[in-house]
Amino acid sequence: MLVLGVETSCDETSVAIVRDGREVLANIVYSQIGIHKKFGGVVPEVASREHVAKITLVFEEAFKKANVKVEDIDLVAVTHHPGLIGSLIVGINAAKTFALTHGIKYLEVDHIKGHIYANYIQEDLVFPLIALVVSGGHTELVLMRDHYRFELLGETLDDAVGEAYDKVGRVMGLAYPAGPIVDKLAHTGKVSYKLPYVYLDKEDYNFSFSGLKSAVLNIINTANMKGEEINVADLCASFQESAVRVLVDKTILAAKNYKAKQIIVAGGVAANKGLRNLMKSEVEKLENVRLSFPDFQYCTDNAAMIAVAGYFKNKTQSN
Ligand code: KG4
Ligand code: ZN
Repeated sequence: MLVLGVETSCDETSVAIVRDGREVLANIVYSQIGIHKKFGGVVPEVASREHVAKITLVFEEAFKKANVKVEDIDLVAVTHHPGLIGSLIVGINAAKTFALTHGIKYLEVDHIKGHIYANYIQEDLVFPLIALVVSGGHTELVLMRDHYRFELLGETLDDAVGEAYDKVGRVMGLAYPAGPIVDKLAHTGKVSYKLPYVYLDKEDYNFSFSGLKSAVLNIINTANMKGEEINVADLCASFQESAVRVLVDKTILAAKNYKAKQIIVAGGVAANKGLRNLMKSEVEKLENVRLSFPDFQYCTDNAAMIAVAGYFKNKTQSN
């Protein structure tokens, strides 16, 4: 079964063609990051216009790369939620028009579920599993007892973890998106600033990152007022330690309580080395729990993950 996936929820215009939910024949990602960098974040209006300008080209490139014909496509899957409304509409219109014109089945897929299914490209999912979804817009713990069955256990009550990374980095003068830069610097610094582990003591699965973010901003403001230097690498290391510890401990708690056989991490922040390392060492302490991260190219937004999620949504609906 050949699925064409379309993703335009934020600042990546992407079209992919995936066979049987796993074999990625093409995954074209046109990133607008270079355009939004000068504004220090994604400008929704600019993002929508860029999607309009690039979507046709990205469709064409996907077919060229996959070397398949339009008639070979069995299903079109597109991200319909959540995301920037003006950006989502571009992908939805393109996908719907393409499907209708060629008489192909059309399905809409939730972006978060797409991030989770990015893991299937590398390996099978084993249930029950706990998925930690960490991105610029989301921080969620999801329980899956079977394919395409999702139970939300907890989520952030304020900022998403990627958003906190980006904001903290911005105040330190780092370029957008600051997450990967903070991650890199964290490995060159030491944990020397005292920062809170927000909600770590709570026996639930919700998160909060605005308090941690404010604590970092306070340290910077106080230093500025006193004319003191900030050790950026140490502050990155301290922030990363607090953020990642809460993410990992809550995931482990959920895995124990729901007797998970697998833990998967998904979304842009799944590329974070500090998160990968700590999660690995904590999961090793559990018995018979497999840990999976998507390949780096499938951590951030891409249409391949949407095609995979579409494949499973279609499969479970047809049963
Ligand atoms: O999944 P994604 O591409 O878009 C959303 O759905 O939000 O995630 C982008 C987010 C950005 O906030 C970016 O800073 C963060 O993922 N990110 C990272 C790393 N790589 C990307 N955050 C921390 N460490 C990283 N290595
Ligand atoms: Zn995303």
